[in-house]
Amino acid sequence: MIQLQDIYLSFNGKTLFNSLSLSINEKNRIGLVGNNGTGKTTLFHIILGKTTPDRGLVEVPNNKTIGYLPQDLVELEPINIIDFLKNVTGLKVVETTLKSCEHKMAFTDPQSDQYQNLLKKYEEASHLFSVFDGYSFEAKSKKVLHGLGFEEKDYSKLCTEFSGGWKMKILLASILLSNPDIMLLDEPTNHLDTENMEWMEKYLEDYSGTLVTISHDRRFLDKITQLTFEIFNGKLNLYHGNYSFYLKEKDQKRLLIEKEIETQRKKIEKTEAFIERFRYKATKAAQVQSRIKMLEKFNLIEMEKEAKPVSIHFPPGERSGLEVLKVENLSKKYDSRFVFKNINFSLYRGEKVALAGVNGAGKSTLTRIISGNEDPTSGQVIYGDKVKIAFFSQESAQNLNYAHTIWEEIGSIPTKMLDIEKRNLLGAFLFSGDDIYKPIPVLSGGEKARLTLVKILMNETNFLILDEPTNHLDMSTNELFQRALMEYSGTVLIVSHDRYFL
Ligand SMILES: Nc1ncnc2c1ncn2[C@@H]1O[C@H](COP(=O)(O)OP(=O)(O)OP(=O)(O)O)[C@@H](O)[C@H]1O
Ligand SMILES: [Mg+2]
Repeated sequence: MIQLQDIYLSFNGKTLFNSLSLSINEKNRIGLVGNNGTGKTTLFHIILGKTTPDRGLVEVPNNKTIGYLPQDLVELEPINIIDFLKNVTGLKVVETTLKSCEHKMAFTDPQSDQYQNLLKKYEEASHLFSVFDGYSFEAKSKKVLHGLGFEEKDYSKLCTEFSGGWKMKILLASILLSNPDIMLLDEPTNHLDTENMEWMEKYLEDYSGTLVTISHDRRFLDKITQLTFEIFNGKLNLYHGNYSFYLKEKDQKRLLIEKEIETQRKKIEKTEAFIERFRYKATKAAQVQSRIKMLEKFNLIEMEKEAKPVSIHFPPGERSGLEVLKVENLSKKYDSRFVFKNINFSLYRGEKVALAGVNGAGKSTLTRIISGNEDPTSGQVIYGDKVKIAFFSQESAQNLNYAHTIWEEIGSIPTKMLDIEKRNLLGAFLFSGDDIYKPIPVLSGGEKARLTLVKILMNETNFLILDEPTNHLDMSTNELFQRALMEYSGTVLIVSHDRYFL
């Protein structure tokens, strides 16, 4: 159905796709995986016609509907959620037609041609209305919204009143409700908690169209995909199974190549030993010559490796006092509902603490209050001596200035850091060379997350408060990040859904 053939694409001299090919067939359920910056999002853009490759064939049927969930933040109109969903699915147009026909018919002579025309239009719209299941649309919408974590009181709010993560969920709901022929979902799980995710897995079981989803979430991929596309070194590798299957196959492939390399190495050693031993023996001259030729002909087998980062490093700030934080009788109430009540605890220098709990338990709210970004309803937060906080959240990741390049964004932060120190810090977060002149809108999800971390670390800090910091990071970057956190001499308070990470 969708066909890409021999796609080549470079940005500023860096090759992203090097003869990449793929085909997507009807009803395929595909997981698209690969490290940060390998081109997953770009591949969606090519399918959607938003990016044109340098070379290669792109075939996408134009009679199929595509529902696309972008990875990046979206802007929605200031209308309420249900109206938005009606707009996107097309129900709104139908409703408007029905109403206007009704209105006009009331003032038209039933014997006239004009009336007959209106009637025809009305009947067509009614038919569409029933196809849309118009009467139960609102109930259906609420079911989907509820599944994604929305509550009754949200349904009357305007789309613009929601934070970035929730806007993504509204968009996701609109895609699920539109039931398109093809769904392209770019990291749909980033804003979902375990409960929402399980709900969506169930919902997608009944979806009979074609599904391609990008995700770093192994469990989600295992549940809903049957094929895995991996982008690696500019090419696309196909695996006939879900994510776990892919990992197993990849590992087996690696073992096989390792074995081949070992066998080859032994053979070469043996040949070299022979040459060394009989080099000066006239009677063996011919044999030695032929072995030398043989050596020259060896095609060295190599493991295909990606040029990958070395390490991430958090610069240590000045040492803080022993007691870093004291939380006393802290409560937070929204409307009349307590998010939490009378919390008491202390954190001490060097401690690394995880904040766990179901969604809605107020983890993010607590981090915002502790970091001074929101006021509690009652109680207090007392900081220790010389405590310097750095706060990372999904929201802060969305606060990059899209008119800047990486270097300009870093430059806009007041700091005593010298340029060379800034460059080193960027390097420690895997931005090297010309990377720093990239405009922010082109950065991949993982790159944006890393840049945000750099920004919050630019002021010497000794207390990191991190709310879901690893959502966009691929596994190897995630590991580097974990190691850096463990080495960090300051205090850490972290919220994460990733159990393995904790
Ligand atoms: N228009 C552009 N100009 C320059 N570089 C670009 C452009 N578009 C994308 N890139 C670069 O191409 C690479 C691939 O980006 P892409 O967003 O496709 O990665 P991704 O696989 O989705 O990564 P992630 O998992 O981090 O979201 C990134 O390094 C990105 O900065
Ligand atoms: Mg991406």
